Amino acid sequence: MSTLWHGRFAGGPSEALQHLNDSLPFDQRMFREDIAGSRAHVRGLGSVDLLNDDEVQSILSALDTVEEEISSGVFEFAPSDEDIHTAVERRVTELAGPAGAKLHTGRSRNDQVATDVRLWTLSAIDEISSLVHRLASTLERRAVEAEGRYLPGYTHLQQAQPVLLAHHLLAHGWALLRDLERLADARRRVDVSPLGAGALAGSSLPLNPDFVAEDLGFSGRFENSLDAVSDRDFVAETLFVLSLLGVHLSRVGEEFVVWASAEFGFITLDDAFSTGSSMLPQKKNPDVAELARGKAGRLLGNLTGLLATMKNLPLAYNKDLQEDKEPLFDSVDTIRLTLLALDGMLDTTTFNHDAMEASADSPYAAAIDLAEFLVARGMPFRDSHAVVGGLVRDALAGEGSLEAMVRAHPELGPEAAALLQPGVPVQNRTTPGGAGPTAVAEQLTRFQAALVRTAPEKQG
Ligand code: ARG
Repeated sequence: MSTLWHGRFAGGPSEALQHLNDSLPFDQRMFREDIAGSRAHVRGLGSVDLLNDDEVQSILSALDTVEEEISSGVFEFAPSDEDIHTAVERRVTELAGPAGAKLHTGRSRNDQVATDVRLWTLSAIDEISSLVHRLASTLERRAVEAEGRYLPGYTHLQQAQPVLLAHHLLAHGWALLRDLERLADARRRVDVSPLGAGALAGSSLPLNPDFVAEDLGFSGRFENSLDAVSDRDFVAETLFVLSLLGVHLSRVGEEFVVWASAEFGFITLDDAFSTGSSMLPQKKNPDVAELARGKAGRLLGNLTGLLATMKNLPLAYNKDLQEDKEPLFDSVDTIRLTLLALDGMLDTTTFNHDAMEASADSPYAAAIDLAEFLVARGMPFRDSHAVVGGLVRDALAGEGSLEAMVRAHPELGPEAAALLQPGVPVQNRTTPGGAGPTAVAEQLTRFQAALVRTAPEKQG
């Protein structure tokens, strides 16, 4: 078998080495990026007369053929094709003859693979960003539809204060908007061309890294050839951003699992976004929400795995770095599936407003409003907290309803008792960014403006 280094070696590689070493099974999905990088490289070589016009043309047309062959599935991979770079170059050489043998002039697979992975990551970030934007838009639509309906807000998963459902949904929405910002920010550091760094030190040939960077649509080129071929920070950063996004989706998932339980009964999932049981006929399971929760673990694993691979690597390229692609591809595939399914689930879930409001209407959820009623009349908050806490304790001990005790209390009375009426407490969350109707209307306007600002068509 002929390898790229056959001149130096008397014998061929062992089968065991080949199996360990081959990255073709997973890196062939970067074939478009690899071909794009080769086109730019060839035009760059032409621009400094390392290739004449005929050679440039024949390699470019061979690259077109290779792209066509791979995308239509007729490309025949050879046992010696250890990775996508080797496969493309071998086929170009077969098609373009002597000119093809000049394709790799001044280039190493080290700068080539870094270029491919960066190009692949740029389009992955764009695709994921538009899916995140879509999910945020679905949350916005459901928030608008929820109008004035409310549910209990929780801390420690104990009922705390009522909040508008719109407020709750938008809380998840703002986390997604931060994910969008993080994706855009990470993208800036992905958007740097490593092509022209060679194996590690640049070249004696008059290559022009700025030319190829521009040709490929990168915003700029590397500053240091050693860094260019050994840097996988951009993969780690992307995996982190996807992990945090995954963590956000898992939190939505967890709430929907809980809300779908008979004990809560806050939502009814659409049949298309739930599953049944193979044994128990009555079951309807929230698998989408559970997988949104479960997939986060895998995303975190990909991130920590890559960081462990990168740790302690000496400069510059080491084969360990071949381990960058599978976690990256897996995380992008995982988050894509999760975003799409979660979007469908959120889009179609029925919110059982009556059940939510019945829970939120517990008079105890308005205890803070009683304490603040006393504060507004001059009582120090610590004292009012104790007064109301005492009434709650008495009510829970069975001495009467909280409302009756409030009504009869000399410092509270009927005006304070009115604060306990169903639907009243949420109205009183009036501060900016708060959970009541006026504040949420204002928040919604800001959220909608942020959605317009971050719309995919406005980017890039
Ligand atoms: N398949 C390799 C990778 O993914 C390409 C670079 C190989 N470089 C080398 N010096 N052997 O990292």
